Amino acid sequence: MGVNNEVNKYIKNFLNVNGIVPNEANYLETGLQYGNSVQNALNLKFGKIISIEINKDFIHKANEKFKNEIKNSRVILIEGDSQKKLKEVFNKDINIFFLDAHGFGSIYPEIHNDQNIMPLENELKFLLNKINENTLIIIDDYLKIKNSSFFLNRKNKWVSKVSYEKLKKIISLERLNTFEIFGSNGMESHLFLTFNKKFKVNRYSFKYMINRFLSIKFYYKKNFHIILSKKIFKKIIIFLFTEKIFSLFIKNKKP
Ligand SMILES: C[S@@+](CC[C@H](N)C(=O)[O-])C[C@H]1O[C@@H](n2cnc3c(N)ncnc32)[C@H](O)[C@@H]1O
Repeated sequence: MGVNNEVNKYIKNFLNVNGIVPNEANYLETGLQYGNSVQNALNLKFGKIISIEINKDFIHKANEKFKNEIKNSRVILIEGDSQKKLKEVFNKDINIFFLDAHGFGSIYPEIHNDQNIMPLENELKFLLNKINENTLIIIDDYLKIKNSSFFLNRKNKWVSKVSYEKLKKIISLERLNTFEIFGSNGMESHLFLTFNKKFKVNRYSFKYMINRFLSIKFYYKKNFHIILSKKIFKKIIIFLFTEKIFSLFIKNKKP
C-alpha cells in the first residue's frame, strides 16, 4: 500500500529522538513500482534514497521521473532481486529500510517465481544480523501479512507465499522492539522493527487506539463478517484482542 501520514509521523519521530537531521539520513526501500514511496522520501528530505526494483519497466520510468535527483546522486535506482541487491548495497549509514517488494505474479508472470515473489523473509534475515541502533526497518502491508492464512492457495499472489509463523520466528529476537502502526483507512498496517531503545510508540494514545479499532474494516472487507456480528459489544472485544480473536476463529479456515 505504500506510505501514509502515520508512517511518516513515526519516521520523523525516529530520526528526531536520535538527533538525526533528515537531510543527513539515508533511506533504502525494496519495491519501487511507480516511485510514490521514493517521492515520499524526497518530501521527507532524506539525503540519500536508494530503491531496489526487479521490474526493468518501472526502473526505466523512474529514471525519467527522478532524472534530476539521479543526476545529483540523491536518488539511486538499482535493478534486480532485492534479496541479492540488498546485500550488495547495504551499509551501516542507512537509517530507514522500507520493505515493500511484493511481486505481482499474475500481472508479470515472466518476472516472478516462488523464489522472488516474496523476498521479505530473506531481506529480514539479512538485515536483522547487520543493523544497529540507528536503524529502523518498516514492513509494508503488515495487516495482510499477519493474516496471510486468509489468502492461502491464491495462485501467483505474493501474500499466499508468506508465512506469518515463520516471520514471527525471524523477528523474535531478544532486544528487538516491534510496533504495529495502523493506518487511518482501516485497511493497512506497517510493522516497525528496531533495536533502538529511545524510539517508543504510545499504544494507548487516542489516535493509535482509534486507528487500531478501524482495522476492523479490513476484516469486514475480506468477508470475514460472517464470523462477526455488527454488535458493538463484539466490536469492543475485537478492539481489545484484534489479532488473537481472529486467529482463533480462522485457525482451521482455508479460503
Ligand atoms: C507494492 S509495489 C511497491 C510500491 C512502492 N514502494 C510505493 O509505495 O509506491 C511492489 C514492487 O516490488 C517489486 N518487486 C517484487 N518482487 C521484488 C524483488 N524480489 N526484488 C525487487 N523488487 C521486487 C514489484 O515489481 C513492485 O514494483
